[in-house]
Amino acid sequence: MITDSYGRTISYLRLAVTDRCNLRCTYCMPEEGLNWLPRNELMTYEEMLRICSLFVKMGVEKIRVTGGEPFVRKGLLSFLKSISRIPGLKELTLTTNGLLTAPLVPELKKIGIKSVNLSLDTLDNDRFTQIAHRNGLDKVLSTMDKLLEYGIKVKINTVVMENRNIDDIIPLVQLTKALPVSVRFIEEMPFNGKSREVSLSWNYLHILDHIREHFPSIGKATDPPHATAYHYTIPGHKGDVGIIAAYTRLFCGSCNRVRITPTGVVRTCLYDAGKLNLKDALREGKTNEELKLLITDAILKKTLDGWEAQHMLVAQHREHESMASIGG
Ligand code: 5AD
Ligand code: SF4
Repeated sequence: MITDSYGRTISYLRLAVTDRCNLRCTYCMPEEGLNWLPRNELMTYEEMLRICSLFVKMGVEKIRVTGGEPFVRKGLLSFLKSISRIPGLKELTLTTNGLLTAPLVPELKKIGIKSVNLSLDTLDNDRFTQIAHRNGLDKVLSTMDKLLEYGIKVKINTVVMENRNIDDIIPLVQLTKALPVSVRFIEEMPFNGKSREVSLSWNYLHILDHIREHFPSIGKATDPPHATAYHYTIPGHKGDVGIIAAYTRLFCGSCNRVRITPTGVVRTCLYDAGKLNLKDALREGKTNEELKLLITDAILKKTLDGWEAQHMLVAQHREHESMASIGG
């Protein structure tokens, strides 16, 4: 087991397999995209598999594959298959924007994926295009349908943005009436590669108040351990609602996560700078034992919370990047 200096056990690894994406969500990256990483700066699937196996040996039980958009990287399905076979891994999940995902759902089911997070910020075609700078709402919705058809749990991630998708909050909650999906509203974080100023007026309390006005019977449900979302249920609804205080950062005390960026940097917090580059260490020929020591040391430096991590980043005169280069 890997434990940090505050006694938190790290059991959840989020692995970003690419920084590239076929959308340009304003909260994530500028419309023109990012300076995409050259291929040799990305970890290969073999390198990622070795790192994942190592983390599982060190106590990680759950791996989430993310990006960028993971499915824009070629060969992802066979990689997922290999990851799913790591002995000791209990759960493999994915975060996707759903554009390319629908036809692959039967394969995901075969691989044993039980839950997928789908990014969906609006149910309106025009707003989708305004937010993502590309079309594709129909594809995302057919991915959602396919996942449900195959009995894969769907969590919808909705970033709440002033002047962009406030009118979608209630229709998205309404979706949980007939469909067994979890719709999770996320406070916007400043990880957009400088595409826009982030307004903080829609924090988790504001979001909750807004939902409660329309659904007065909404009630608090129990949050599972290590959850980042506050869970709510509405009587008569098949699905449920979550609110993630991603900016307010109220869940750091029970954090069990570590992230690996597409270039192999270990980030012990979404808001930290990250120091240890596992890809470089691996390419230098380090043994698994040496890598384990490096990882243990990095985890011991995990900050108390996202605020401390951010202060350290600012002290180094560094800025927050795009979510796609950190790993969503
Ligand atoms: N703020 C909050 N959430 C974000 N995501 C991406 N960028 C941001 C941001 N700036 C979330 C999206 C997506 C997941 C990969 O990360 O909801 O589903
Ligand atoms: Fe792509 Fe996800 Fe970033 Fe949107 S939030 S641009 S879907 S990586």
